[in-house]
Amino acid sequence: MNIRVAKVEDIPGMQACNLQNLPENYAMKFWIIHAMTWPQISFVAEDHKGRIVGYVLAKIEEPEDETSPEIHGHVNSISVLRSYRRLGLAKKLMLLSQDAMTSIYRAHYCSLHVRKSNKAAIALYRDTLGFEVAKVEKGYYGDGEDAFSMRLSLR
Ligand code: ACO
Repeated sequence: MNIRVAKVEDIPGMQACNLQNLPENYAMKFWIIHAMTWPQISFVAEDHKGRIVGYVLAKIEEPEDETSPEIHGHVNSISVLRSYRRLGLAKKLMLLSQDAMTSIYRAHYCSLHVRKSNKAAIALYRDTLGFEVAKVEKGYYGDGEDAFSMRLSLR
C-alpha cells in the first residue's frame, strides 16, 4: 500500500471511492478546486496496481470573523474502501493531512463534520486522533441527521 499526496489525475479514483463509501458526493469541479487550491493537504492510498482505495480531501479556511478567527484546516471527506478498512489507512491519511496543514499553512486547528450515527468515524477522530466535539449542528445533513462539528488543536 502506498500513501502519497493527491494529484489532479487521482480525482476520478477519489470520486469513485467516495461514491462507494458515502452519501455525500461532490461535482468534479469541487474536487478540482481542492486539488488546485490546496495541493499539499489531500492524500490518497493506492494498492499495488495504483487503484485508489482511500483518500482524504481537505481545504484551508482563512480567518473570517470573530466566530472563526484563526486559519485552520478542514477535512471535507475521508473514506477507505470496505476491504481495506481497519488497516490504519484512515489514521495515516489524517495524520499526513494534519501535518501538512501545520507545516505549510501554520493552521491552528483541524475541523470536520461527521454524522452523529457514524460510530467508526467518530472513534477514529475522537479516540485515535484526539478530536473533540465543538458543537452539534442540528439537521446538518441532507436527510436531516445532526452533525458533530469536531476540532483538533494543531498547536
Ligand atoms: N468501529 C470502531 N472503531 C473504528 C472503526 C469501526 N468500524 N473503524 C475505525 N475505527 C477507529 C479505531 O479506533 C481504529 O483503531 P484500531 O483499528 O487500532 O482499533 C482507528 O479508528 C483507526 O482506524 P483505521 O484503520 O485507520 O480506519 P479505516 O482505514 O478503516 O477508515 C473510515 C475509517 C474512514 C471511517 C472508514 O470506516 C470509512 O471509509 N467509512 C465510510 C466513510 C466514512 O464514514 N467516512 C467519514 C465520514 S466524515 C468525513 O468525511 C469528514
